[in-house]
Amino acid sequence: MPQGVPTPLIRDITEAAQRLESGQLVALPTETVYGLGANAWNSEAVARIFEAKQRPEFDPLIVHIAGSDQLGSVVQTIPALARSLAERFWPGPLTLVMPKDESIPDLVTSGLPGVGVRVPDHPVALKLLQATGCPIAAPSANLFGGVSPTTAEHVLLGLGGRIDAVLDGGPCQIGLESTVVSLMGDKPLVLRLGGLSLEALEEAIGPIQVAESNSALSDAAQPAPGMLSRHYAPGTLMIAMDADDSVPLPIQPGTALLTWGPATKEYSDFAVVKNLSENGDLRECAANFFAALRCLDAANPDVIIARRFPDHGLGRALNDRLQRACG
Ligand code: TXA
Ligand code: MG
Repeated sequence: MPQGVPTPLIRDITEAAQRLESGQLVALPTETVYGLGANAWNSEAVARIFEAKQRPEFDPLIVHIAGSDQLGSVVQTIPALARSLAERFWPGPLTLVMPKDESIPDLVTSGLPGVGVRVPDHPVALKLLQATGCPIAAPSANLFGGVSPTTAEHVLLGLGGRIDAVLDGGPCQIGLESTVVSLMGDKPLVLRLGGLSLEALEEAIGPIQVAESNSALSDAAQPAPGMLSRHYAPGTLMIAMDADDSVPLPIQPGTALLTWGPATKEYSDFAVVKNLSENGDLRECAANFFAALRCLDAANPDVIIARRFPDHGLGRALNDRLQRACG
């Protein structure tokens, strides 16, 4: 689409499906975050995703399908572990990287032999995938490096005028991107922590290794591009504070606070405060996290102080996103 033309917000799934089939870019809701979708079999449409997001082409895209029965059309072989993980966690926030089928353009995987696949757990996304009959390649629907969108309005703020339509499915329930697991090696490897907790994965398949991002490597050489040191980042400087709330908070005029847990009297000393969950529910924290980052950023404070999360369940993925938002 020519840049600058307003992007329509639509609710008609058939219209969205037709637009995707004809090679257009349509943002779609999922349970994790909104994705910027294109027909995964159409390399020209896929190329336009990178253009719209201003995303470097070394970053591979996740391919979304309507159900495990469609796996055969996107992967060459289905590892045994994939079958059991899919049965247990799909539809849901788990992306599995498996040997790619020839029909998937190299651009989708940035030339890698594996393709990341998932079945999203969102009624609108599933109906759309059933209606198109094609797999949909979709990264998070934000400009490269920015905060992931959890509402249709967030998508418009970042990509309005750059994409063909946004299919509105309301706010995303999980609010953090999927957990990415590679099944390309001898043992499964978590490439990105996300909406499916490590505990849940390990309960299903036993101990699993998590890839560490390596600060000695260039961004392009990281094990997964979601591991860039600065990613998911607001414009404002962010500083992470310990999860332990007995540590006094450094308050300066113009400081914003991103926190969780019971409200404290210190709140009144901050220019603006966002509490992700007063009872410290990590699911609630995750669902509110990206929207809160946007809201604090928009208030234009000098700095955002953000309290880390307990290192278990979704807290791990939240701490990972927080670290990268701090750069
Ligand atoms: O929840 C999600 O995963 C959302 C929704 C829209 O599905 N998508 C998303 O996509 O977060 P994106 O592109 O922002 O992040 C995808 C992550 C990247 O870190 C990428 O490196 C990794 O998944 N990934 C995708 N395909 C891969 C592949 N073939 N090999 C290794 N990593 C891959
Ligand atoms: Mg992303």
